Amino acid sequence: MDKTAAISGVMGYVPDFRLTNAMLEEMVDTNDEWIVSRTGIKERRILKGEQAGTSVMAIEAVNRLLEKTNTATTDVDLVIAATVTPDMRFPSLANIVADKCKMPGIPAFDINAACSGFLYALNVGSQMISTGLYKKVIVVGADKMSSILNYKDRSTCILFGDGAGAVLLEPNEEGCGVLDCFMGGDGSGEKYLNLKAGGSRTPLTHELLDLGAHYVFQDGGPVFKMAVSKMAESAKLIMERNQLSAEDVHWLVPHQANKRIIDATANFAGLPIEKVMVNIEKYGNTTAATIPLCLWEWENKMNPGDNLILVAFGGGFSWGATYLKWAY
Ligand code: UT7
Repeated sequence: MDKTAAISGVMGYVPDFRLTNAMLEEMVDTNDEWIVSRTGIKERRILKGEQAGTSVMAIEAVNRLLEKTNTATTDVDLVIAATVTPDMRFPSLANIVADKCKMPGIPAFDINAACSGFLYALNVGSQMISTGLYKKVIVVGADKMSSILNYKDRSTCILFGDGAGAVLLEPNEEGCGVLDCFMGGDGSGEKYLNLKAGGSRTPLTHELLDLGAHYVFQDGGPVFKMAVSKMAESAKLIMERNQLSAEDVHWLVPHQANKRIIDATANFAGLPIEKVMVNIEKYGNTTAATIPLCLWEWENKMNPGDNLILVAFGGGFSWGATYLKWAY
């Protein structure tokens, strides 16, 4: 790589409303003990309000990021948003964010790689900086999962929450930033995790609405197995090819889908849980927002030069890992 792209600022935004396990017990046949022992989740945030789409959270995160990093909106070259819940089918969430955050005229596009979306977007954005094309790139991962969940389906509604996280990427001359990355995919995973109705193959009809085909469908078992193997493999592969031992890694930043998947990944990589960023108990699975929300919450614990391994798995199937050196 010519130059490395480093994260020079991170910001998160989660809505105020907390949907607790006790509240879910009133809605579906479930219980706190099952949810905590099978997933690690205690509560998740839900975005309320008329016409409040994912952009509400993404805009908050990006505006606060610009302010915190003292970045003039006119200096931003590109916005990439990772999401499966854009406000509309089109225009993109990134376009809406760029407009509302007063960055007119710049390129902005979405990446749809479900729970791997932020990692994919980070990798794409960092390449755009490494080639010298751009100097300031905003990558935002945001999802309003509550807008596509069936709150009568206990197998999915307990898992997900709403949130957004954003990072600023800039060139770095000190060897910090994204040092290696890879992405993987397997479209045959479609049958295990999808949202059928409303796409071009299956346009929405009254009948499909009645069947709830416009909600997330997940066959959890096969997804769980694949998530464990791909997250673990990905972490190990990127560590090995960068000659990083478990001692060399300061932080594992895993996608937050299930505490058991996180534990298995950490175990396989030989990393103690103290080195693993975990906040699934507070937010559940916020899809494209999990990784930046972790970076945001751990920002003050990280030091310049810390080695981070980011790893994700999600719908598609999609997966990947990134090795980055923290820059500040
Ligand atoms: O981020 C994108 C990728 N997604 C993931 O990585 C998620 C991967 N999958 C998972 O995390 C897990 O498969 C789940 C958390 C979704 C499910 O956990 P599980 O241990 O695989 O449970 P299961 O689906 O095998 O269900 C076990 C039992 C079943 O009852 P029976 O058939 O044994 O009587 C379910 O009906 O638990 C029952 N069950 C529940 N019970 C109480 C399923 N959901 C619930 C619930 N509350 N919410």
